[in-house]
Amino acid sequence: MKSNPLLKPVLLFFEDEHESATRIADASSMERAKIERHRFPDGEIKLRLPDTLPDRVVILRTLNDPNEKLVELLLAAHTARGLGARHLTLVAPYLAYMRQDIAFHPGEAISQRIVGQFLAGLFDAVITVDPHLHRVATLQEALPVANAIVLSGAPLLADLIAARRQQPLLVGPDEESAQWIALAASRHDFDYAVCRKVRNGDRAVDIALPDCTVTGRQVVLLDDVASTGHTVARAAHLLLDAGAASVDVAVTHALFAGDALQVMLDAGIGEVWSTDCITHSSNAVSMATTLAGALAQIQATA
Ligand code: R5P
Repeated sequence: MKSNPLLKPVLLFFEDEHESATRIADASSMERAKIERHRFPDGEIKLRLPDTLPDRVVILRTLNDPNEKLVELLLAAHTARGLGARHLTLVAPYLAYMRQDIAFHPGEAISQRIVGQFLAGLFDAVITVDPHLHRVATLQEALPVANAIVLSGAPLLADLIAARRQQPLLVGPDEESAQWIALAASRHDFDYAVCRKVRNGDRAVDIALPDCTVTGRQVVLLDDVASTGHTVARAAHLLLDAGAASVDVAVTHALFAGDALQVMLDAGIGEVWSTDCITHSSNAVSMATTLAGALAQIQATA
């Protein structure tokens, strides 16, 4: 089927993300339309897209709880192409499967590469926020798509921290967080430091505090993601033992699996702030305007 090139680009979304879609569409003055989704009794899903699509289509799907959503993207992207979409952009504020970037043991799937290639086969452009890239330098290495834009939640989280805490000390719970800590700290000239972490299991981490004085400081732990919450919980426990006046947490992605929030609160963490990349009651910062800016950049070149 031929698309209608006269139509403005459209943002397609799923019902569970209608609030994020509204914020992004409003910030970018885009049309939006819902993808209808039906689940059959046996668990299979059926999607229905608008039957008239413009040349340029954007699909919003944040990829927490990713397994079923990856099948949705497979179905939605192919259907959009069949309906004539010439240029497809994925907005995945949270990009899943980025942490398994090597085979730690023989025979392990390198999920980052496999999922990255899968998405690159479906989309022309991808926009995401703070993807967990550790051993690769650019998103395009993991997700070889023509146009890949990486945004960060760190600047807006830094603004929030500056508004809520006096002379905070930013602490990264592990070496990988150094990039986000540096970005956030430079924006407001915060003091900062980074811990060292050894992971012994899904819920078992050892942390060594940085060599700096935390006594009496309002500490904010900043990271890309909290999943089980044990990383920030362990760091908070040590910081409070070392004399920190308070410990709060700011993360881009509130994955918060199972009892993660309780684990964090039980460790003495005061407040937990996150961006709206994943919808959660801790959301304190909206990425809509930032995402809209990236969309404008892509639409200008598509
Ligand atoms: C990994 O290095 C990430 O930046 C996070 O520190 C990690 O994923 C947090 O996981 P969890 O909350 O399960 O300890």
